[in-house]
Amino acid sequence: MAFFSDLFAKKEKSVLGVDIGTSSLKVVQLRKERGQAVLETYGELSLGPYGGGEVGQATNLSAEQITQTLKDLIREAKVTTVSCGVSIPYSRSLLTLVSLPYRSDAKEQRTVIELEARKYIPVPASEVQLDWFIVPKMNPSQVIAGEEGSSGPVRGENVDVLLVAVHNDELSRLQSIVAGANLAASFYELEIFSTIRAVVDDPVRPIMVIDVGAASTKVYVVEHGVVALSHAISVGSQDVTRAIAVSGNLSIARAEELKKEEGIAGAGALGSPELIFSRIFSEVRRVLIQYETAHKKSVAAIIFTGGGGVTKELGAYAKNIFSIEMRVADPFAKTEAPAFMRPVLEEIGPEFAVAVGLALRKLEET
Ligand SMILES: Nc1ncnc2c1ncn2[C@@H]1O[C@H](COP(=O)(O)OP(=O)(O)OP(=O)(O)O)[C@@H](O)[C@H]1O
Ligand SMILES: [Mg+2]
Repeated sequence: MAFFSDLFAKKEKSVLGVDIGTSSLKVVQLRKERGQAVLETYGELSLGPYGGGEVGQATNLSAEQITQTLKDLIREAKVTTVSCGVSIPYSRSLLTLVSLPYRSDAKEQRTVIELEARKYIPVPASEVQLDWFIVPKMNPSQVIAGEEGSSGPVRGENVDVLLVAVHNDELSRLQSIVAGANLAASFYELEIFSTIRAVVDDPVRPIMVIDVGAASTKVYVVEHGVVALSHAISVGSQDVTRAIAVSGNLSIARAEELKKEEGIAGAGALGSPELIFSRIFSEVRRVLIQYETAHKKSVAAIIFTGGGGVTKELGAYAKNIFSIEMRVADPFAKTEAPAFMRPVLEEIGPEFAVAVGLALRKLEET
């Protein structure tokens, strides 16, 4: 009996993470089996060619064009479920950490937060969806013991609150894409949170995540699973391609190939990739120092993610600048997949971090 009900339940349990990036769409389908996340399928489609552009370059497509691409991707990747979670681009959101008086009454706390949020959010409250998280405070002994703060704050004391605002227009844009692709989304999540779920495991030490996307590089410091600081740098992997194209007098398509083949080191003969990354890293350094000064703690490790995060020799190059533990994200490690697929999954993983994180959250719902 149990066997048959399993069979029937199987289809129900499949979930999808949908990441709408500026350069490509990614989907990851997972299923829960014996408490494990099993990888069923994944896929990616570059948006560039749908808008007369090139693979690897950021686009600014209409919701209709994105919907069409998503439908194609769902078909090509043989997605079999409609239940999904969808990411909200960092660039379309506003994230601020503020210090506010603590109220033990949830309703009162809500009022305090909503009033205060008006000071930080430059549009009328009716135009945005507001969300917030109270950052857990930990005293040093608890940090060492690795446990959550048990003695909560007291009334009147200030707590750190992470405010997240997303414009209603952005949510309706995403909803129309989801509906157009015949999917059913139960949540829309800021891509940062999806990434953290997929790539950060450290419960205690502050970890910096660097998401090198096509259009921009997102940097955030995560502490106790909460974003303590975030920042977007308007330089991304597409700029590396453009720089190679310009300095080598090559087409964008050829430069894109070269970038993937050679990474920093090889194409660095042209000098350009290194120049782009040095611009990115000088801003990363500012964020790092800002965090370490404000929190009086050092960042323990840097995790690279996003398509540009797999750039060859990036880790070694970064290691010269920041003498910190450095690694590349491996989000598919949180999923079960046939052993022969591991090498490929490790290589493409960083690009799929957001989609994996969304699917993992969706699985928790089932
Ligand atoms: N092997 C690789 N080496 C270097 N760069 C790569 C590699 N694979 C992909 N990229 C680059 O990564 C970028 C795409 O990364 P990703 O898919 O994370 O971006 P996105 O999510 O579309 O963009 P964004 O996050 O800025 O919205 C492209 O510019 C692509 O050229
Ligand atoms: Mg992205």
